Amino acid sequence: MTILAENYQLNNGIAIPKIALGTWLIDNDDVADAVKNAIKLGYRHIDTAQAYGNEQGVGKGIRESGVARDQIFVTDKVAAELKDYDSVAESIDKSLATMELDYLDLLIIHSPQPWKEVNQSDDRYYQGNLAAWHAMSDAMKAGKVKSIGVSNFNQGDLQNILDNSDVKPAVDQILAHIANTPKDLIKFCQDNDIQVEAYSPIGHGAVLDQADVKKVAAKYRVSPAQLCLKYDLQLGMVILPKTANPEHMKQNADLDFQISDDDMKTLENVKKLTDYGQANMFPVYGGKL
Ligand SMILES: NC(=O)c1ccc[n+]([C@@H]2O[C@H](COP(=O)([O-])OP(=O)(O)OC[C@H]3O[C@@H](n4cnc5c(N)ncnc54)[C@H](OP(=O)(O)O)[C@@H]3O)[C@@H](O)[C@H]2O)c1
Repeated sequence: MTILAENYQLNNGIAIPKIALGTWLIDNDDVADAVKNAIKLGYRHIDTAQAYGNEQGVGKGIRESGVARDQIFVTDKVAAELKDYDSVAESIDKSLATMELDYLDLLIIHSPQPWKEVNQSDDRYYQGNLAAWHAMSDAMKAGKVKSIGVSNFNQGDLQNILDNSDVKPAVDQILAHIANTPKDLIKFCQDNDIQVEAYSPIGHGAVLDQADVKKVAAKYRVSPAQLCLKYDLQLGMVILPKTANPEHMKQNADLDFQISDDDMKTLENVKKLTDYGQANMFPVYGGKL
């Protein structure tokens, strides 16, 4: 079965497609076509965020795709800076209006800390994240959102929610790719029935030229990108490859091969990537999330 038709089941019983189109850094003007092309190829899961500035185009692409809304899984993220009930509640209504959608399938807290504090401060905003969570839980009860989750949360951040809310995070979306596999966090999530989503599954492009990746990819006669995506899937994660290129979209969903246990071990032990090139300026690659 093609990966495009495969789902995991979230802890609330809702199905989530294993592969999503990532849309970070796709301009609002271009993203509707990217979304429509992906849906035409069979993608049924689209990942955006308030911070990406492309919610309007993503909503347009979904509405104009020709596929019924209830067949598409739409993920959005609450801006990392919003850490009080009212601003989060308002932002949800604004996102739905901007996207011209009646509901979101999944809404995620983008980061436990505002971006300017990531890698800079030890304040994990436990109270602020609970306030955000409360607003998101109420949006879920009101039918605006079907599932709620988090992103970039570590074990302590997750425990704060688990200890103080009846609603469990459905997902934690984290940086996870060959050369950066946070095994303890992945295990903590899996032990707590929280679905892990791997963002930057191709290392934001920075692992494509790594010798180990190229060597193993050649063995399976797949591209380095395909190897990266299959690796994350075999670790049980949702994958969110970003591209606006239909050829790449097609290739990224062509994952009908199996990486052997030995090769998975080799790939798990590839030296940790610390240089993401020009993307080093983004807080998510600063190493301390
Ligand atoms: N929650 C968070 O904090 C967070 C942070 C980062 C990312 N994300 C999510 O995760 C998604 C993916 O992460 P990402 O955008 O950082 O990077 P990524 O998907 O790991 O890598 C994207 C790069 O890989 C290239 N690529 C894609 N498919 C390819 C293929 N088949 N062959 C060769 N190159 C290929 C893309 O180039 P082309 O565009 O030219 O195809 C682009 O340069 C984001 O779009 C976003 O939805 C979330």
